Amino acid sequence: MVFFRSVSALSKLRSRVVQQSSFNNSVRWLQIQTSSDLDLHSQLKELIPEQQERLKKLKSEHGKVQLGNITVDMVLGGMRGMTGLLWETSLLDPEEGIRFRNLSIPECQKKLPAAKPGGEPLPEGLLWLLLTGKVPNKEQVDALSKELRSRATVPDHVYKAIDALPVSAHPMTQFAMGVMALQVQSEFQKAYEKGIHKSKYWEPTYEDSLSLIAQLPIVAAYVYRRIYKNGQVIPKDDSLDYGGNFAHMLGFDSPDMQELMRLYVTIHTDHEGGNVSAHTGHLVASALSDPYLSFAAALNGLAGPLHGLANQEVLLWIKSVVEECGENITTDQLKDYVWKTLNSGKVVPGFGHGVLRNTDPRYLCQREFALKHLPDDPLFQLVSKLFEVVPPILTELGKVKNPWPNVDAHSGVLLNHYGLTEARYYTVLFGVSRSIGICSQLIWDRALGLPLERPKSVTMEWLENYCKKSA
Ligand SMILES: CC(C)(COP(=O)(O)OP(=O)(O)OC[C@H]1O[C@@H](n2cnc3c(N)ncnc32)[C@H](O)[C@@H]1OP(=O)(O)O)[C@@H](O)C(=O)NCCC(=O)NCCS
Repeated sequence: MVFFRSVSALSKLRSRVVQQSSFNNSVRWLQIQTSSDLDLHSQLKELIPEQQERLKKLKSEHGKVQLGNITVDMVLGGMRGMTGLLWETSLLDPEEGIRFRNLSIPECQKKLPAAKPGGEPLPEGLLWLLLTGKVPNKEQVDALSKELRSRATVPDHVYKAIDALPVSAHPMTQFAMGVMALQVQSEFQKAYEKGIHKSKYWEPTYEDSLSLIAQLPIVAAYVYRRIYKNGQVIPKDDSLDYGGNFAHMLGFDSPDMQELMRLYVTIHTDHEGGNVSAHTGHLVASALSDPYLSFAAALNGLAGPLHGLANQEVLLWIKSVVEECGENITTDQLKDYVWKTLNSGKVVPGFGHGVLRNTDPRYLCQREFALKHLPDDPLFQLVSKLFEVVPPILTELGKVKNPWPNVDAHSGVLLNHYGLTEARYYTVLFGVSRSIGICSQLIWDRALGLPLERPKSVTMEWLENYCKKSA
């Protein structure tokens, strides 16, 4: 039954592709790219005044419109359901999942340029889409790949900063350290020190963001090779695209792994603004901290087990299932193992979500990938079995708002299949991808002149008194 729900979710998504494409035609912001302009920077320059006007109009005409009521539950419950952030690059529907600039994941797979016909989207194309709201053509994506390659040189001190840590330090700690060391080159910081006019903030933010995105795979691959491959670094291959080259520098040259990396980097980029990493990046940047500082902060949030670290936890948990019960585990054994996890006060990693109330489309597209490329992989078959077994158990618990699998439930077994077996490293891959979403929004934060973030906080006493008065 669960499986049918997944299939029906997929076909629902597909039918929405058709419905949505006619809807999209009426959305001025999202246009199919016809311009031959290959320069992303000049495209943005053209778009910014129009979007600044749009924001100004929204503020002056509708600034006092109420968006909902804030309840005590919301304040005590991690601000769930409270609309409080502007995030242009993507929007999450609880049932349908993420849309990047109005495009669902299946639509992105269909419309964004790929490395080969019918292949997975190139992450550079998604970067273009997030920044401009327009679907790029292949030439534009190739030009952006080239630009990123031209920025992909990492200064020596970055490696030294990472080397100062013990090899046993968590990969996310080493990665975040590398990002902090990259900050030394921040153009935003230099421009700010020189007194740049605020109308121009977005330009050095753009410079920093593109350099950061370009250099992250090198830093990430360095961390991987340092920890797991005796420090034998693999140089970049300038004939490859962003995702393909990242897989190459990690040490994986099979065409299928390169395709997986393109898909992986594309789908993990952005998940609207309220999740811990995106919100942290946005919050820190609102103090005019540069993109390196802001993204390093975001990475530290991503390293939490309830957020990005869940992909590591999933594979470790799946392996612990196999260790205890063997690969040919029966459904009853699996149910017992899930209950054992829950009864020991732990969560079942890879299931549940703060906003989603259905199977995550990022899970479904990875499932499609597995069905196409590795249908017989025993761990994939176990993941499929979990898809049937876990949701009814979480539903039976009675308190879990979303019993369905999220993105992290699937990624580990795909990476593991191609030889990237070191689960502790997985969140670093997520981090590389997340830079594309966070940095795209940061550029718009500066272009739109968004202010310092400063919500009001209150004490329990304040809440008690307020509730007494309003009773
Ligand atoms: C993602 C997550 C943190 C969302 O948390 P949330 O918004 O508080 O979720 P809910 O409102 O459904 O939580 C209600 C209760 O159900 C529990 N719950 C939610 N998902 C659960 C899961 N996968 N396993 C066990 N219990 C779960 C929560 O811990 C909470 O219990 P509590 O009231 O005793 O504290 C949560 O689902 C989770 O911990 N999932 C596992 C980790 C994971 O996969 N994270 C990656 C997310 S992309």
